[in-house]
Amino acid sequence: MCECDDCECCGCFGSYSRFACGFCIGLAIVAAVAVIIVLVVGYGHAAQPRFEVEDASLARFALTATSPTTTISYNLTLTLAVRNPNWAMGATFRSLEADYLFDGQRFDRVDVAAPGYVLPARKTAVFRIASGADEASVMLGSAGVKAYRRQSGKGVFDVEAALSGQVKYQLHSTWCRLEARCPLKLQLAGGQDAAAVVFQKTTCELLRSSQRGC
Ligand SMILES: *[C@@H]1O[C@H](CO)[C@@H](O)[C@H](O)[C@H]1NC(C)=O
Repeated sequence: MCECDDCECCGCFGSYSRFACGFCIGLAIVAAVAVIIVLVVGYGHAAQPRFEVEDASLARFALTATSPTTTISYNLTLTLAVRNPNWAMGATFRSLEADYLFDGQRFDRVDVAAPGYVLPARKTAVFRIASGADEASVMLGSAGVKAYRRQSGKGVFDVEAALSGQVKYQLHSTWCRLEARCPLKLQLAGGQDAAAVVFQKTTCELLRSSQRGC
């Protein structure tokens, strides 16, 4: 029926064999290029995880100012959503922690995700972090103590959650440092104000990484 003498790559296409060979090779090249593009786009540049505080409640926030040390006793619960925006790459966390700051000074540090936590591509994980302390020391100067008194009068405190961690993306080899800031307005639960303020979802501001490939 047909003769297969001058083409081996695509089998027998009779008198069209030369054309068919070229077509097959062309198709193979297009397919290879498409695969490379998919790999580069999907696995090349990694986007940083996104953080959002969905809910937060402050059950206690009391300052004891006895110089030289100032201490805070507090109870805070935070619901933090962490989203991996990459469509192909999972993200592995070596660490993810939150520092709580008042007036720029840290009064506690809590773990958010356990080391080795994997967040699959396109997924959002929600962490509920409850913490408290009876005497957390904090380096507040007189300005900080004043800020506390002022905010205490209103029953609403400006507390910042500063997130930090290290993350590695699938097929990548670098551990990328992550930093994000979440400024929170927290109303003290059971405060004198009958009109409870509903917590506003807060998107955390990501600090851009200066690391290569992160
Ligand atoms: C508040 O924090 C303290 C730790 O100082 C803890 O013992 C207590 O159970 C917490 N209270 C609530 C209601 O979570």
